[in-house]
Amino acid sequence: MSQTVASQTEYNYKVVRQFAIMTVIWGIVGMSVGVLIAAQLAWPALNFDTPWLTYSRLRPLHTNAVIFAFGTSALFATSYYVVQRTCQTRLFSDKLAAFTFWGWQLVIVLAAITLPLGITSSKEYAELEWPIDILIAVVWVTYAVVFFGTLIKRKVSHIYVANWFYAGFIITVAVLHIVNSMAIPVSLTKSYSIYAGAVDAMVQWWYGHNAVGFLLTAGFLGMMYYFVPKQAGRPVYSYRLSVVHFWALVSLYIWAGPHHLHYTALPDWTQSLGMVMSVILFVPSWGGMINGIMTLSGAWHKLRTDPVLRFLVVSLSFYGMSTFEGPMMAIKSVNALSHYTDWTVGHVHSGALGWVAMISIGAIYHLIPALFSQGRMYSVKLVNTHFWLHTVGVVLYIVAMWISGVMQGLMWRAVNSDGTLMYSFVQSLEASYPFYIMRFLGGVFIVTGMLIMAYNVYRTIAAKKDSLQLDADAQLA
Ligand code: HEM
Ligand code: HEM
Repeated sequence: MSQTVASQTEYNYKVVRQFAIMTVIWGIVGMSVGVLIAAQLAWPALNFDTPWLTYSRLRPLHTNAVIFAFGTSALFATSYYVVQRTCQTRLFSDKLAAFTFWGWQLVIVLAAITLPLGITSSKEYAELEWPIDILIAVVWVTYAVVFFGTLIKRKVSHIYVANWFYAGFIITVAVLHIVNSMAIPVSLTKSYSIYAGAVDAMVQWWYGHNAVGFLLTAGFLGMMYYFVPKQAGRPVYSYRLSVVHFWALVSLYIWAGPHHLHYTALPDWTQSLGMVMSVILFVPSWGGMINGIMTLSGAWHKLRTDPVLRFLVVSLSFYGMSTFEGPMMAIKSVNALSHYTDWTVGHVHSGALGWVAMISIGAIYHLIPALFSQGRMYSVKLVNTHFWLHTVGVVLYIVAMWISGVMQGLMWRAVNSDGTLMYSFVQSLEASYPFYIMRFLGGVFIVTGMLIMAYNVYRTIAAKKDSLQLDADAQLA
């Protein structure tokens, strides 16, 4: 206890707490919008003929909320925590750290206002208009100053591998965002990209794919390299492999963007290069996944009683699954079937809900008791309930999308003996409805789990340490 108090005065936990709590809140908001748009795909009348409730406006609201509000808040919280703990020093500047928190919340609120109003640059995952883009760039550069400033003033000579992943993510996202958002403003709410045609598409997917590679992957791998060993109480399986993993990942990811543009106006050699790099990317991805999972050597039994560890380890299984699926989908002949179908959406969510959300949820469950000087979460049983709701929800979601995606691809290419199409597009849509309802149900499971998490977090923070409901292992068994 005295150790915890001492470390709290030494470290800046305030900003970590703020981002950790906002992760839960934005998770609920972003995933609820996901459930709403999933429902709209099954029951289109749910837009109530209201412009700001239409699917086209809520879809980017969902992607921005889950990636930039939920996922990125988790990255801010954990990176600020990990860099302080592993460098044994306080954040470089409390004021700048507070600026990143309030600046980022402002970005999110502005996104939540402008996207439903239909104000958009129309670039996927970069929809926000230029004044917000400038604010993002300022906050992000400040984030880099705080993070690297802390690394520079570290009290230990070694830089722990998790920080390498966070550092790679912070630098690359800054470069991607600034280059891809270059635009000529024509009014406060409208701008046009400075790139045109195929170049615009290439820059956009260089950004889009590396947002996946560095934000949705490298940053969360940083999380994995700290929280999996901590929660398992074991050292990283192979530290050498983790360093190889880092360099292989960052040098390969950056080339793979063209797999989003197969069979387009992009030069053919660029598409083939993107395909080859994507297939090779399988190797470091699985190296990292195996390194994470093997960290449990000698601690496998803990999975029986520790649902937080379960969140972390199952997230790695989903990471392995989506990084096997991705390289396969990058092969041009496979992509000819999968592109434009729900298979892509299934792939996205096995990465997003299986990997990104589960590792974040696990890390937040680890952090909350540590940040609020509590021994453990208010109820471990509720963490376990959340784990199962989330897992079942994700499986319902991705299985539904795999079936409907492959079905759509096959229906669109089926031809009669005279060469005419066997099915109309509407027939393929009708056939997809049952799977849209199944995905919606999966989403309801997931959001229910998030609401339970919010309750558990609230009770943990509110509880006095000695009155915690000590329901852990015995109740689980
Ligand atoms: C309750 C949980 C969720 C539900 C029900 C849900 C639902 C949806 C739906 C219905 C779409 C539109 C699919 C389409 O246009 O055909 C979508 C897209 C997307 N969602 Fe989610 N989502 C959830 C959670 C998440 C999370 C946690 C993330 C990221 C961390 C995420 C990232 C995305 C992305 C990147 C897309 C765009 C996919 C693409 O363009 O292919 N979602 N989601
Ligand atoms: C080795 C790793 C991976 C490779 C090679 C890969 C490859 C691919 C391919 C080929 C597509 C389909 C492109 C298309 O037909 O339009 C795709 C889409 C996507 N992937 Fe992955 N993927 C990988 C890992 C991941 C992970 C771990 C995540 C999430 C955490 C993810 C998120 C996405 C998203 C969001 C899209 C949809 C982009 C869009 O069209 O809006 N990917 N990926």
